[in-house]
Amino acid sequence: MDLATRPYRSVLYIPGSKTRALEKARSLQTDAIIFDLEDAVAPEAKAEARETLKDALQQDGYGKRAKIVRINALTSQWGFEDVRVLRDVGADIFLLPKVNTPTDVDALADLLEPSMPIWVMMETPTCVFNAPEIAAHHRVAGLVTGTNDLTKDLGCRYRPDRLPLMTALQRIVMAARATRGVVAIDGVYNRFRDGDGLKAECEQGRDLGFDGKTLIHPMQIDVTNTAFAPSASEVDLARRQIAAFEDGQASGQGVAVVDGQIVENLHVVAAKRTLAKVDAIAQMAAE
Ligand code: COA
Ligand code: MG
Repeated sequence: MDLATRPYRSVLYIPGSKTRALEKARSLQTDAIIFDLEDAVAPEAKAEARETLKDALQQDGYGKRAKIVRINALTSQWGFEDVRVLRDVGADIFLLPKVNTPTDVDALADLLEPSMPIWVMMETPTCVFNAPEIAAHHRVAGLVTGTNDLTKDLGCRYRPDRLPLMTALQRIVMAARATRGVVAIDGVYNRFRDGDGLKAECEQGRDLGFDGKTLIHPMQIDVTNTAFAPSASEVDLARRQIAAFEDGQASGQGVAVVDGQIVENLHVVAAKRTLAKVDAIAQMAAE
């Protein structure tokens, strides 16, 4: 599936060390998987996890799910070996943690094939300040918000409304949108058995403009896929807006009115984007 137009509603972390979870993910309805070698894997388990993950990726069976490998930072003792072992085993994307500047991205870009897209963890205050330059790096295709690391570094509190993180969240979305085609993924929801809390946070992230959310547990997938997909009423409205605008144009009108709201060309662009997203989701579901 074309990486640029595919959906990224649900992006599930799987510790590279957990064979059962690596197996289970082959049948989960997640749009993308982050195979993690970093924070989810203990230092003493790093070497084994690398080999376990290599086997899983070579075996494949992950279908259309985007396969994203999160390596350890290149400043750690594991990062270079992670790249060496995993660069040619079928990953679609490499995800780099603890990035502060575009130069950090160069270090990974130099080790990978030029066609391999790089996603960046946005999880330090310096990284968030440098977000526009990082998103504009020619190898960067996605930004993943690391809300737990950001919360730690900022010394802020966890709040259901995420007010302490709002500047960072919005800056990440803005940086992605200022560069064409860069994907923006929201951080994880830690209370993974709290479906109502997750739903509220998904809807907040969606309303802010994120393409999807990172997840830590399979039970979070359905809620997230629904929240980040256009609803039936949004699809219906989009279709009617396009039709009304085209009718208007045929009779020489530059604007139309639907449900008491003005429809200009820019609304039609947004409506077409909604329909394209529905198509991409349908393609993902089709076998
Ligand atoms: N991906 C795929 N499958 C997963 C999974 C994941 N992230 N987390 C759990 N599962 C599977 C388990 O293997 C188990 O499968 P089974 O019943 O078929 O054997 C099933 O889902 C239920 O798991 P459960 O017992 O409810 O979870 P747990 O209590 O063992 O583990 C966590 C809870 C949070 C420790 C675990 O979900 C996890 O490790 N998540 C990922 C954490 C991570 O990657 N963090 C880094 C980024 S923040
Ligand atoms: Mg982190």
